[in-house]
This record gives sequence, structure tokens and C-alpha cells, in this order.
Amino acid sequence: MHHFSDRDGILHAEDIPLPTIAEAVGTPCYVYSTATLTRHYHAFANAFANLGATVCYAMKANGNRAVLRLLTELGAGVDVVSGGELALALAAGAPAERIVFSGVGKTEGELEAALRAGVHQINVESEPELDALDAVARRLGLRAPIAIRVNPDVDAATHAKITTGRAENKFGIEWTSARRVFRRAVTLEGIAVKGIALHIGSQILDLAPFEVAFRKIRDLVALLRADGVTVERLDLGGGLGVVYHDHHDVPPDPAAYAGIVRRTLGDLGCALTIEPGRAIAGNAGVLLSRVIYRKAGITRTFVIVDAAMNDLIRPAMYDSHHHIRPVTVPPPGTDTTPMDVVGPVCESGDTFARDHPLPVSLAAGDLVAFMTAGAYCAVMAGQYNGRPLVPEVLVDGDRFHVVRRRPTVAEMAALEDLPPWMTGTGE
Ligand code: LLP
Repeated sequence: MHHFSDRDGILHAEDIPLPTIAEAVGTPCYVYSTATLTRHYHAFANAFANLGATVCYAMKANGNRAVLRLLTELGAGVDVVSGGELALALAAGAPAERIVFSGVGKTEGELEAALRAGVHQINVESEPELDALDAVARRLGLRAPIAIRVNPDVDAATHAKITTGRAENKFGIEWTSARRVFRRAVTLEGIAVKGIALHIGSQILDLAPFEVAFRKIRDLVALLRADGVTVERLDLGGGLGVVYHDHHDVPPDPAAYAGIVRRTLGDLGCALTIEPGRAIAGNAGVLLSRVIYRKAGITRTFVIVDAAMNDLIRPAMYDSHHHIRPVTVPPPGTDTTPMDVVGPVCESGDTFARDHPLPVSLAAGDLVAFMTAGAYCAVMAGQYNGRPLVPEVLVDGDRFHVVRRRPTVAEMAALEDLPPWMTGTGE
């Protein structure tokens, strides 16, 4: 459920009509709903309350400082995957003791920053990383609290680019080496082994693969304990999907997911962490855009909007679908017709949807909203074609605030510099 709805024929974000935001901020822009973010956080927190799990929001989904502040004030921890995210999470006010540091290629500098900050846990993904972390921790006179991320070799039945738990994926320690690596890790002076981490993929709509993976983890816990390895924490990753196709996708219920966790892992006496990203932020955001032109091709009708693949890359990158709604609901009885919705970027891949049913009356100047654009959208934006990074707006009831403004082209240009041999000031 989310808080974008039609009122008096106009799509609102909570109590704010989207045209009000378009006027004030300009388009394209992302609009997020405080009520939806809050609702989804609580759905996870409540589902896991009697399992004592910590919800470490995966900020890669939407790392805006205001979103992080909101969620951490509700009690969330944060899953970070780079030194940049770590610094941003701390700057947003996330307590270090609720931060989990994941990622397959953490540098020594990033590991050191995490140890100095005192994060709750570092999820180690390879033996070379284990050795690097051991060395950094010993140099600092610390013991690094770690979970070892294992790759359970489970098919999450999701898009190939976002599946992570198969043996052929780059993530985690191979299942067959896991026991050996744990046994070695406990001998390292700079390492304090706390437990096991896993994450099998993203946009998972069927809970069955979780159950398969968690049962494998249960077996591994038993083996490790028999080896004398203390397993006191389990980090189960994220992955729950959201609805992109309105009448097709059925989102898994966090409570049903928690039920699987309880059945498979609930009696092991481990502290649990989950790392949902998309399920918290996904349908808490829309991308608001304006139609620039409507162009009648010979075979198709194109709607050229002012958002482009640099602002929302998921359709180009994963062939993903974002439902597109006119912000002003057409009068009853208005027919729809299939249209290709495209951006202004000079690539055919800059296509958001083909044959998307839209009102025949849709015209230049009209606003449209790309739904379910709160996760993996603004964070993946770029400046291709000299297009400034798209701004973000947070709505809370009847108020809204620009939580990341659009940079000016002058600011974009200021990061670049001419070499002295071009300006005649050097040798
Ligand atoms: N934990 C780890 C270790 C992860 O790698 C991820 C996502 C998450 C948690 C959060 O997963 P979620 O609950 O959001 O499914 N850009 C892609 C999604 C990439 C997901 C990467 N890992 C997309 O737009 O679909």
C-alpha cells in the first residue's frame, strides 16, 4: 500500500497535489511519501518484533539523507556498501552500532573507516578480504566484528542482473568452502567471528527460495557449532519484491517472510538482522515528469517526456516496467491508446515503456507519474547528455521539502578543469 492517490481527479502525494510540486520544483523530480516509508518500516519491524531482529535498511535503494533520518529515527539500522554510504549514513545520524557494512570489494581504506566508526558488523565476502580486514584491525589494535557472507547457491527466480545467491554470482564465499573459511577466521587475531550473512537477490516475489536458503543456513550453523565456531548472529539480507505490474505482481507479505524465518532459524538463539531496501522505499516514491511533445510516428505514437534514462535507468538496464499515470485523471469515458513513452536522450534505449495505455487526450504540458520509483531510481541517476541530477522531494502530510536540489549547470561544469597546456597558463 502507498500514499499516492487521486483526489478530485488529481494525483496527490499524501495531501499535496503533484502539480503543486511540479510548479515549485520543476520537472523531472522524485517525490517520496513519509507515510509510506514509515508504514513499510513498521511492517518489517512489527513482523520481526518477537524475533528480536534489527531492520538494517539497505540505503543503496534510496540513500537520501532525509529518508535515512526518517528511518533511523523510527529505529532502523542501515546496511551500507561503500565508504561513501558509510559516511553519508553517519552524517544522516545513523548510530554506528546499527550499521552493517556489506559489499564484495571493500578497500582497506573503507575497512579502516568502518572499524574506526565502530560499526556493528562487517560482512566479509572473500578470503582475501578476510586477510585484509585482519591486518587492518590488528594495525588499529582492534578486533573486527564480522559475519561471513556465504553464497547458498539458491536460485531466487528473479532478473539475472539482480540475482546474487547462485554459485556463478560474484557474491559471498562459495558454499563448499564456507566451513573451512570459518574455521580459519576464528584463528585470526584481528577478527571476531559473530555469524553468517547471506543475500540471495532482489525483487523476489516468491518466498520459496528464502526457505530453501534459510534451511541451508540452519544446516551450516549446526556444522559450524560442531566445529566449535560461535554463531551468534544471522544477517539474512534483503530481497523482498514490490509491485511494478499492478494486476500481475503479488508482493510477499513481510509477516509471511518473518514466519519462514521463525520456522527455519527462530530456535537457533541467534540475533537476527534483515536488510530490506526496495520493500521499504520502492512504492514510497514516484518520478514526476512533464510531456514535452506528443509525436505521431507512422507506426507508433511517441510521448516524449522530460525525464530520461539518466534519471530513471531501470527500464533501460533491466527491461523493468514502471507504471505511468497521468497526474490529471481524464474525464470518465476517455479512451486510452497505446503509446511509447520515451525521454529526450539520444539513444533508442531511452524508452520507458512501449504500448503503454494512456489517455488519448494526453498532450504536451501534461504531467505524468512513474510509479514505484522510490528504490533504485534517484540513486542510480546520472548526468548523461548534460542533464543535471534529478532533484528529490519529501512529502509529509500537507508539507513538502526539496531534500536534494537540482544542481545548476554551472555547478556541474565547476567539477571539470582544463589542463594548463590548453589554457596557455602552463608549460
Ligand atoms: N543486502 C545486500 C547485501 C544487497 O546486495 C542488497 C541489494 C540488499 C540488501 C537490498 O535488497 P532489496 O531488499 O532492495 O531487494 N538496482 C537493482 C537492485 C540491486 C539490488 C542490489 N542488492 C534494481 O534496480 O532492481
